[in-house]
Amino acid sequence: MKEINQIGLITGGGDCPGLNSVIRAVTKSAILNYGLEVIGFLDGFKGLVEDNYIQLDLRRVSGISHIGGTILGTTNRDNPFNYYTDIAGQPQSSDQSERAMNNMRNLGLDGLIVIGGDGSLHIANQFAQKGVKVVGVPKTIDNDLAATDVTFGFNTAVDTASDALDKLHTTAESHHRVMILEVMGRYAGWIALHAGLSGSADVILIPEIPYNIDAVVAKITQRYRQGKKFSIIVVAEGAAPENGEMVVQNLVPTSHDPIRLGGIGQKVAEEIGGRLSQIEIRVTVLGHLQRGGSPIPYDRILATRYGVAAVDALMAGKYGTMVSLRGNEIINVPIVEAIKDLRKVDPNGSMIRVARSVGVSFGDR
Ligand code: F6P
Repeated sequence: MKEINQIGLITGGGDCPGLNSVIRAVTKSAILNYGLEVIGFLDGFKGLVEDNYIQLDLRRVSGISHIGGTILGTTNRDNPFNYYTDIAGQPQSSDQSERAMNNMRNLGLDGLIVIGGDGSLHIANQFAQKGVKVVGVPKTIDNDLAATDVTFGFNTAVDTASDALDKLHTTAESHHRVMILEVMGRYAGWIALHAGLSGSADVILIPEIPYNIDAVVAKITQRYRQGKKFSIIVVAEGAAPENGEMVVQNLVPTSHDPIRLGGIGQKVAEEIGGRLSQIEIRVTVLGHLQRGGSPIPYDRILATRYGVAAVDALMAGKYGTMVSLRGNEIINVPIVEAIKDLRKVDPNGSMIRVARSVGVSFGDR
C-alpha cells in the first residue's frame, strides 16, 4: 500500500493568474504519474473547515490552464486557526483547526497541497506542525515571498501594468499631462519597478525607497525644460514619503493582514499639483485588473512546473516544504523559510541601478 493515495488541494488568499494552471498540473500529474485521487476544497481554507470540496479528475481540469481566477474559489479571510463566524450578527473568531483535521481524517486524505501567498502558507505551516503532510506552492502577484525567485502570477500582473503604461503614454503625450499609475504590491515595489522599467516610466515610487516630492517635481520640470511636456509616474500602493506613512484605504479585520492599501496615487497628484499648478495631472488606479485575466505563457509554464513539482515533493516525503524557483531550477525549501520575511526590492540592487542608469527617478535625489 502506498503512503499517499488521496490528496487535497487548496487555493488560498487573493487570486492571481495561473492558479488554474497549477490545479490542472497537480491533478494531471497526481493521476497520470501516481494513480492518486485528488479533491479540491472550495473557497480556500473555508472549504477545509466546512468540508466543502469537489473531486478533481482529468475531465474537470481539462482546458483551464489559460483561464484566470481559480475554479476552486478562494478567500483572503478564512483562517481555520482564527475562524470567524457570525454569531447574532457579530463576527466571532474561534480555533476550528481540529474540525478541519477531522474532515481530512474522515476523507482519508493523505496529503495537502496549498497554493498561496504568505498568509495561506502560514496556515499551511500550522497544519504541517499538527502532522499534516503539506506542500506549498508560492502564489502572489506581489512577488513578495522569500525563498523563491518568482511567484507565479507576478509576471502577468507586470504585463497588465506595462500595457496600461503604454496606453497612458500616448494620451499623456497628446495632452502634455502628468499621468500617475497606482499599482498593487502591498509592502513591496516589485510590480511598480518591473512595470515601470518595461513601460518606460520617468518616475517610479516604491515602498523600499521613501520619496521626496520635490525630487519628483524636479524630474518633471527637468523633462519639461527638455521639451518633454509629459511625464509618466508609477506609484506602488505601499509607497510613502520620507518621514511619512503609507496610505491605508480600509481595514478588513477578519483577514490575515487586515490592512488594505490604496490612495497614494491621488496623494502624489495633489502634492505635485500644489507645486506645479500649470500642469494637468491625472491618476489611474489599476486595482484588481492586475489580478484578473489570462496568465501569460511564462506564468502558465511556471505554474505547471510548480504543480508537478508539488506532487513529486509529496510523493518523495518532502513534507512541510514549498516548491521554489531558483535560477531555472525548481527546488524545495522549508515553508518556514518562505514565510520568515517579506521579500522586498533591494534599493541598491541591480534592477534599481539599471533603472537609474536610464534616467528613472525614484523620487529620492
Ligand atoms: O496580495 C495581493 C493583493 O492584490 C495586493 O497587491 C493588494 O494589496 C491586496 O491583495 C488587495 O486585496 P483585496 O483583494 O482584499 O482587495
